[in-house]
Formats: sequence, C-alpha cells, structure tokens
Amino acid sequence: MTAAAVPLPRGGGEGREGGAAVNVLGIESSCDETGVALVRAAADGVPRLLAQALHTQAAMHAAYGGVVPELASRDHIRRVLPLARQVLAEAGTGLDDIDLVAYTRGPGLAGALLVGAGIAVALAAALHRPAVGVHHLEGHLLSPFLSADPPRFPFVALLVSGGHTQLMRVEEVGRCELLGETIDDAAGEAFDKSAKLLGLGYPGGPALARLAAQGCCGAFALPRPLLHKPNLDFSFAGLKTAVAVRVAALGSGATEAQRADMAASVQAAIVEVLVAKALRALAQTGLDRLVVSGGVGANAELRARLDAACAARGARVHYPEPALCTDNGAMIALAAAMRWQRGLLQPQPAAFDVRPRWPLQAA
Ligand code: KG4
Ligand code: ZN
Repeated sequence: MTAAAVPLPRGGGEGREGGAAVNVLGIESSCDETGVALVRAAADGVPRLLAQALHTQAAMHAAYGGVVPELASRDHIRRVLPLARQVLAEAGTGLDDIDLVAYTRGPGLAGALLVGAGIAVALAAALHRPAVGVHHLEGHLLSPFLSADPPRFPFVALLVSGGHTQLMRVEEVGRCELLGETIDDAAGEAFDKSAKLLGLGYPGGPALARLAAQGCCGAFALPRPLLHKPNLDFSFAGLKTAVAVRVAALGSGATEAQRADMAASVQAAIVEVLVAKALRALAQTGLDRLVVSGGVGANAELRARLDAACAARGARVHYPEPALCTDNGAMIALAAAMRWQRGLLQPQPAAFDVRPRWPLQAA
C-alpha cells in the first residue's frame, strides 16, 4: 500500500510566496560515508549550510582494501540518527523545524542507499513532511554553490569521484548534457588501484597524493590514455596496468624514493589528462566557467594545474569547500533545496525505491 504524497512546502518555483524559506535535512549514504546536514533556502538566493556532520567508514573498510557493501549498510544504520541529532543541536533547531527530508536515491550501493532512503522516508512520515530522493552526482555537481565563491550557470562540470569521471555542460539545475566520460575506470579508481599496488592504505587517493609530494613526476613514463583523441572521453584502466608492470619490475627492493617517484608519475598522468580534457570541453562549448567536484577534486596538484590552465585561458574555476569534495549530506540537502527553489521537486509518496544505477541525465 502506498500512502498519499505529503505536499511540498510552498514557495519554490511557480506560485512562490515572497519570503518563503525551507529547512532541508539531507542524508547521504550511497557508499562509505554517512553524511547528514541541514540547509536553509529562501525562495531565491543561494542556500545556506546551517550544520553538517559526517562519519567516514574508511578505517573500517581499510582492513579489506576496499568497501565491503554489507558492512557499509550496517554502519550507516548505526550512524544516521546520532548524526542527525548532532546536526539539529549544532543548528539550534528541532525536528519540527525540518520542512523537507532529502536522501540520496542513487547511484550507489543498493543496501547502503536503502538505509538512508528508509530512514529519510520514515522520519519524513513521522514529521508529516515530504521526503525527496536526490541524485548523488547532482549533489556533487552543485556542491560549489555552498562555497564562498559560488558559480553561475551555465558551466562545464568536471565530476571526478571514486565511481565516475564525467564532463558535462550544465545549463541549469536539472538540465545538463553529458560531453564525455570514462570508458572504463574512474579517475578516483585509478588513484585507489595505483595506491594499492604501491602498498598504500585505503582510500588510496589522499595517500598517493601525500607520497607523490616527495617524488619526481617525470621519473616513470606512464601512458596518458585518450589524451590526443579529439573526444572528451577518458580511459584509466591501461594506466593501472602500466603501474602494475612497473611496480612488479621494481620488486620488493623498491626504495622509498622510487615509490614516491611512481606516485608522482601516476598523479601527473591522471592530472594531465583531466586538465587537457576539461580545457577542451571549455573550448568546445565556448563556456568560460569550470566547476570541479567529487573526491578527486580535493587533489592539490589537480587544483594547481587547473587554476593555471584556466587562468591562461581567461576562464574561472570553482571548487567545493575542501570538506564538501567527498561524499556529504550538505550536497544532498543543497540539491533538493535548489530544485525546490525552481519548482522542480515532485511530491513523493511514502513508498520509495533506490536507483543503484542512474544516469544523471535521467534525473
Ligand atoms: O566523491 P567521493 O567521495 O566518492 C564517490 O562518490 O566515489 O570520491 C572518492 C574518491 C576516492 O577514489 C578517493 O581516493 C579520491 O576520491 N580522493 C582523492 C583525494 N581525496 C579523495 N584522489 C586524489 N587526491 C585526493 N586528495
Ligand atoms: Zn560521491
């Protein structure tokens, strides 16, 4: 049986009332981070983050060298409500102040998504408020709107996470066109798999970046897949294979300096391809604003190279605040808030589903 949809708060989109505002509770549980946040949005203007709390499961999964889906789901169940209490306390608000509950509907791990969706829908029903499912990548893509220097539409988005590497032309909230994407591994996966080959912990991206800071990026000649192809697609699987061959050749006697050189060479290869394709996307679309988001967007070398390349072209680059690069609840609340402002939210019945595989263009 499906309960009737709870009406959405008025004020966003058509029929907006002057001065209307909503508090959106956002819940993220698509992978190995449990994130909860409260965002406040007036009918227009950039929404504001009131409070957020995050628990990362990285230490729990580290023993297995990667995310164990069943353990992830169980841990999300333990974390969501304590994190929600923490957020409400920090914001100085109560349950009654929540107007809308947003959760990550996909893409992600099915069991992990179901935890966030189940709790969000139950909480919303108990509060007689609507619940809305949000696309995880839309959250990443819009996350720079919570920064001190928010972008303006339209822009090119470079979305670089553990599961996705995409270039998009973004006209407005809910209107984007895929320009190119990885045909195999994501950029974050290339960082993680190379880090694993170098014996670094999980997640590998930040660990590899730290080791790379002590190495020489020209020490090992590694492939830059699809760099010179005129399209905007990526491929990182061959890079991982090349790293595996080089690391095997070094054997167990590899020095710390050689490992640092390898880390720096891997990072340089990934960054060079990402920068070249992002710049090509700006040139092809004629746009002069680039928005970078997703976990790999926290990489300092990527940021330095993008800043320099965009400055040389007269283009602006926007990043999320460092704390909002990786998965978090703020970006989920924000995406729902921005959709509400534009009247794009659909009233949702109390029944729910999750979409482990979900192209952003279909959101
Ligand atoms: O966006 P995210 O938190 O989760 C997904 O939606 O996938 O991205 C996680 C990815 C992981 O592959 C992680 O290794 C990578 O982002 N990452 C980094 C850095 N911080 C996180 N990669 C390179 N340099 C970093 N500083
Ligand atoms: Zn993510």
